[in-house]
Amino acid sequence: MPSVLITGTNRGIGLEFARQYSAAGWQVIATARETSAELAALEVGVETLDLRDLDAVASLAASIEHPLDLLIANAGTMLPETGETAADGNAWAEMMVVNCIAPYVLAKALLGRVADARGKLIAISSGMGSIAESSGGYAPYRTSKAALNMAWHSLAIEAKPLGAVAATIDPGWVKTRMGGPNALIPAEQSVGEMRALIERVGADQSGGFLKRDGSPHPW
Ligand SMILES: NC(=O)c1ccc[n+]([C@@H]2O[C@H](COP(=O)([O-])OP(=O)(O)OC[C@H]3O[C@@H](n4cnc5c(N)ncnc54)[C@H](OP(=O)(O)O)[C@@H]3O)[C@@H](O)[C@H]2O)c1
Repeated sequence: MPSVLITGTNRGIGLEFARQYSAAGWQVIATARETSAELAALEVGVETLDLRDLDAVASLAASIEHPLDLLIANAGTMLPETGETAADGNAWAEMMVVNCIAPYVLAKALLGRVADARGKLIAISSGMGSIAESSGGYAPYRTSKAALNMAWHSLAIEAKPLGAVAATIDPGWVKTRMGGPNALIPAEQSVGEMRALIERVGADQSGGFLKRDGSPHPW
């Protein structure tokens, strides 16, 4: 039975990943700060994890002793929206931990287990992290996702000699609490298309920042 560890699974895209991989017969290790009723209803193993706590991130990774086929670093925050005040700046620093540093620390700590399975390390990025396509605004979120893309590109280089693949994916504009009601696609569709991409992504695309159809996203 293939195994996947997914962060941020109590709602939104992470919950849908947990639902679809569980339905497909995978062993799912689902992390969340708090277990929602929707998550509790799934047949998955739930681990409490707040990504701001880097010691907890490292401990969770160290507790995984079996080969791991897939990591999906999904959890993320869009707050703060701006960096105008000292309070914003402090929240921005915390956002960098949640959106970039903790995913990388988790991935590095799991790299051996993923390599054992010749598996894949996937991070959910955002088109808003693209410098080439930026229309301005949301500087904290954009920088956190651009930094995540660079961290994952470095991760792919480190994973290559071990036979593991790493890539970031833009999920599109998705109807979740973060995406809002005007978003273009439901989580079921975004996750279904990303799962198909994750299934086929190989060494030739490792290190990439990808659209859901597998084409390269402009950096
Ligand atoms: N929706 C979109 O249109 C869109 C577009 C591009 C990229 N993305 C990315 O897709 C991913 C999932 O987003 P979503 O749309 O599903 O958003 P969401 O509904 O707001 O869900 C965000 C998830 O991240 C978790 N999270 C936030 N801070 C956390 C922390 N400190 N520790 C652990 N978990 C934390 C949340 O848990 P809590 O409930 O505990 O806060 C929740 O499970 C994010 O990385 C996001 O940046 C989304």
